[in-house]
Amino acid sequence: MRKVFVLAAILVISMAVVYFSSCNNETKEPEPTANKDSLEQVIKRGEYLTVHVAMCLGCHSKRDFSKYSGPVMPGSEGAGGEEFGEKMGVPGVVYARNITPDAETGIGTWTDDEILRSVTHGISKNGDTLFPIMPYMNYNRMAKEDLLSIIAYIRTLKPIKSKVAPRQLMAPIAAFYAPQFLQPTIEGNVRPPESDRVKYGEYMTTFAVCGDCHIPMTPKGPDMSRPFAGGFTFDVGTFKVGTANITPDSATGIGAWTEERFLNKFTLYREEKNYDFNPGKENSYMPISAYAGMKDDDLKAIFAYLHSIKPISNKVEKYPK
Ligand code: HEC
Ligand code: HEC
Repeated sequence: MRKVFVLAAILVISMAVVYFSSCNNETKEPEPTANKDSLEQVIKRGEYLTVHVAMCLGCHSKRDFSKYSGPVMPGSEGAGGEEFGEKMGVPGVVYARNITPDAETGIGTWTDDEILRSVTHGISKNGDTLFPIMPYMNYNRMAKEDLLSIIAYIRTLKPIKSKVAPRQLMAPIAAFYAPQFLQPTIEGNVRPPESDRVKYGEYMTTFAVCGDCHIPMTPKGPDMSRPFAGGFTFDVGTFKVGTANITPDSATGIGAWTEERFLNKFTLYREEKNYDFNPGKENSYMPISAYAGMKDDDLKAIFAYLHSIKPISNKVEKYPK
């Protein structure tokens, strides 16, 4: 009697298993491959944005200034430690942090929401606010799906154990944190259609943080009244270089540039043989070898946007003494 019961029970259970798994098969069979494909696509888009557009790795890795435009040193991707000091207009010193998936010294234990909050609102996991050299003001305007693809990609970086020194600022961080310029939520952000060249170009220019370097620097910080007018001078130690005026002013900016000239400025560096020479004192601080990986259409859209903004006359010396 007992045996029969056990048998019946097993039968019922196995029938149930068959039933549910066949249900699963029916409704979910295509999913594993669909999920895999779309996750791969998300990571690919994330890699493109992280490496070639948003420059996350340009700041959060070591750069090799013995080569033209300081490409990222292989093996240091995401480990942080780059120093941003007074020569970069920081009152004190701030270090790019470790954003590899290392659990102890990186962001391995952070949730997507925690990473998203630091990238779009400058609030770290522990609630501390971040110095705005981390361009969360820009990323605050980007579409959530693009940002999530970046997060998906940085989770695939090799975990690197590297403890980054704490920043030292000459004033409390509250003096530099300006939440009034941040949208409280990014949920409504959209990526404009690529067919809208100027709008889409503005989106990519913001994502690529071009404006943060190409702005005149004053003792009080960047001169927001003259966006893209250039003149911010970087002192890398071995050389000094001023950022170009990239407004459409014909005499001092890029007003006389054709789209082709602009495109060539970037695409030249798609091949390492074109930048792997001894640049000496006339190097660039612009991570152009990373931007070179941007799609032609994306670069052309950026050009279309830059040609649509207000021309500002500002003569910049490229290699000041
Ligand atoms: C211009 C350089 C720069 C760029 C570009 C940049 N970051 Fe940062 N990031 C920093 C610096 C510097 C800090 C540390 C700020 C501080 O200590 O106040 C930081 C902090 C962070 C933090 C907080 C980590 C922690 O431990 O609190 C995260 C996460 C982060 N960045 C991710 C990113 C991602 C993702 C991107 C690209 C979408 C990116 N960063 C682009 C410079 C940069
Ligand atoms: C980290 C700082 C930095 C960022 C970010 C940056 N640039 Fe530059 N850029 C420079 C510096 C420095 C120069 C001058 C040296 C040189 O020509 O490479 C320069 C030069 C240029 C020039 C060349 C002008 C000339 O006369 O040859 C163009 C065009 C340009 N940048 C466009 C851009 C665009 C577009 C972006 C965003 C996709 C961008 N830059 C992002 C620092 C930066």
